[in-house]
Order: sequence, then C-alpha cells, then structure tokens
Amino acid sequence: MRILVTGASGLLGLNTALEASQQHEVFGSVNKNVIQSKTFTVIQSDLTEPGALEKLIDESKPDWVINCAALANLDACEANPALAEKLNSELPGKLANYVAKGGARLVHLSTDAVFDGERGNYTEEDKPNPLSLYARTKLSGEQVVLASNPEAIVARVNLFGWSLSGKRSLAEWFVNNLSAGNKIMGFTDVYFCPLLVNHLATLLLRMLELELHGLYHVVSSECANKFDFGVRLARLFGFDESLIEPASVSESGLSAARSPMLTLKADKLIRELGEPTPGLTEGLAGFYSQYRDGYPEFIQGMKV
Ligand SMILES: NC(=O)c1ccc[n+]([C@@H]2O[C@H](COP(=O)([O-])OP(=O)(O)OC[C@H]3O[C@@H](n4cnc5c(N)ncnc54)[C@H](OP(=O)(O)O)[C@@H]3O)[C@@H](O)[C@H]2O)c1
Repeated sequence: MRILVTGASGLLGLNTALEASQQHEVFGSVNKNVIQSKTFTVIQSDLTEPGALEKLIDESKPDWVINCAALANLDACEANPALAEKLNSELPGKLANYVAKGGARLVHLSTDAVFDGERGNYTEEDKPNPLSLYARTKLSGEQVVLASNPEAIVARVNLFGWSLSGKRSLAEWFVNNLSAGNKIMGFTDVYFCPLLVNHLATLLLRMLELELHGLYHVVSSECANKFDFGVRLARLFGFDESLIEPASVSESGLSAARSPMLTLKADKLIRELGEPTPGLTEGLAGFYSQYRDGYPEFIQGMKV
C-alpha cells in the first residue's frame, strides 16, 4: 500500500510512519520540524496554506491516509483558537472529502479529551462534553470527518512514547525529570488508558486492513492515574520513585481545563480484533526496551 501520514514529525505521526514503512511505501508530511528518514519519503507542507492539501495528496497518491497533523497542545489551542479550529476541525473535513473522492481510506485521529471525565469508562455511545478549546475543536473534527466520509475511521486515542523533541509525551517528562533528580507532581485524580505509540500505530494499520469504519476508542485495556503511571515507569527504569509527589490536578496551575476520569472502553475494537488491546504493563515494558536499545537517540537523530 501507499500510505500518507500527515504530522510525521509529531509523536504519533513519526512513530506511525516508521512502523508503517516496515511493510508499506510511506510518505510523511511535516511542517516546521523537518526530518530525514531512510525508510519513508518526507514532504514539507504547511497544510493551512491554500492548495497544500490537494498538492500533498496528488503527489503521494495514497491508498491509505493517517491524519496525525493537529494543534495538539491544549494551552497552544487556548492561545490560538483560529489555528486550532483550522487544523483540528476544518482541515480534517477537507481531507475527508478529498480522500473520499480519490477512493483512498482515511484514519483521522481524535482524543479521549472529548469527554468531561466526570464518570469515566466511556464507550463510543456516550455523549461527549469537551471542556477545553482543544477538545471542542477535536470533537468538531470528528463530526465533520464522519459526515463527509462515512467510510473513514475516527480513532479516539491516548498515547505515550519517544518523540523528536524528547519532550512531547508524559512518559518522556517523567524520564527527563526523574533522571535529573527533580521532584515532580503526579496527579492522583487524573486517569487515562494510554497505549505505547508503536502499539497504537500497529493497531491503526490493522484497522485499515480489516476495513473498519466509523468511531472507535483505540486505547489500552489497562488504565491508571498519572501518579501510578509515573511510579510504575520509575520502578522499571530504576529511578527514585519518591521524587514523584502525589498531587491533585486542581493544584497544578495549568491554564486549559483537564478532564479527570478519561478512562475509555475499547470493547468495540477488541471485538473486531478478537483480542485485547495491549495493556500498560506491555506498553511500559516496550517503552523501556526502546530506551535500552537507543530508540530515543535514533528518533531525535532524524531532525534535520
Ligand atoms: N499526544 C497525546 O497524548 C494525544 C492524546 C490524544 C489524542 N492525540 C491526537 O493524536 C494526534 C497526533 O498527536 P501528537 O501528539 O502526535 O501531536 P504532535 O506531536 O503535536 O504533532 C503534531 C503534528 O502536526 C503537524 N502540524 C502542525 N501544524 C501543521 C500545519 N500547519 N501543517 C501541517 N502539519 C502541521 C506538526 O508538524 P511540525 O511539528 O513539523 O510543525 C506535527 O507533525 C492528534 O490528532 C492529537 O489530537 C494525541
């Protein structure tokens, strides 16, 4: 297959392009962070520019598109609502339309944060209630994609892994601070079910192979609060876990609203796959073995 991964310099896009290029011909689009790769073709394109999306698709002629381009930082969205709207809502709609016309199949990435996190254990049937501008623009992106292209997959995810900057994911933040001996806060009242990004990439490719369509929760079968996630990571890496102080998100001073119980059920996907999605134990073990094998340095070395 020919696969276009947008946002191929981002945490999910980069790891997805690398995973996919083991079996497929991959084109990865980047914007400000230009990268070099031996296994996939890198195309620089600012997708907010008129005609850029059409040019990218015409150039890569994909069978499958995995849309990881987004304004995915909550505080950046609050600071720049027009750009958030453009990248998270308008662009996915345009992409879904254009891809549908050319006969390619699309996976569009969304987020667990479309829920308010009051209750937890959300299924695809539950009504979202986004709290932040980021989440509102992501929810509107989901809706416009499925309305324009019912054959598309919309995947609500949460993830961790190694990124180009070495600073993009919560797991990297724990590693960077704990390895430097810094005391940090771990929220005991924020729950999530993150997948190792490479496990997530493999699942997205599997979903395309299975020709699924519609809305899916693509998360880990195992959930945890962020404090426990940090402690488990610290134990695995041999860091001092007492550096992580249990805290409440209400004490954090973060400007964009965070949803507390973001536990999602992936049962719909699990039924299709015939097996559970990877758990946190498996995800953290994979993250640690990548660290031992020099994967973070490999990823960061892709930066031009
Ligand atoms: N990270 C998480 O924990 C998480 C959780 C839930 C859902 N998600 C969703 O997963 C998807 C991927 O997230 P991520 O964490 O991988 O994001 P990320 O690391 O912030 O990467 C975003 C990507 O979008 C690209 N991009 C930004 N503006 C662009 C523009 N104007 N034109 C073209 N490309 C542009 C960036 O390119 P440059 O860097 O080259 O400018 C980068 O490659 C998003 O849909 C996000 O909402 C992420």
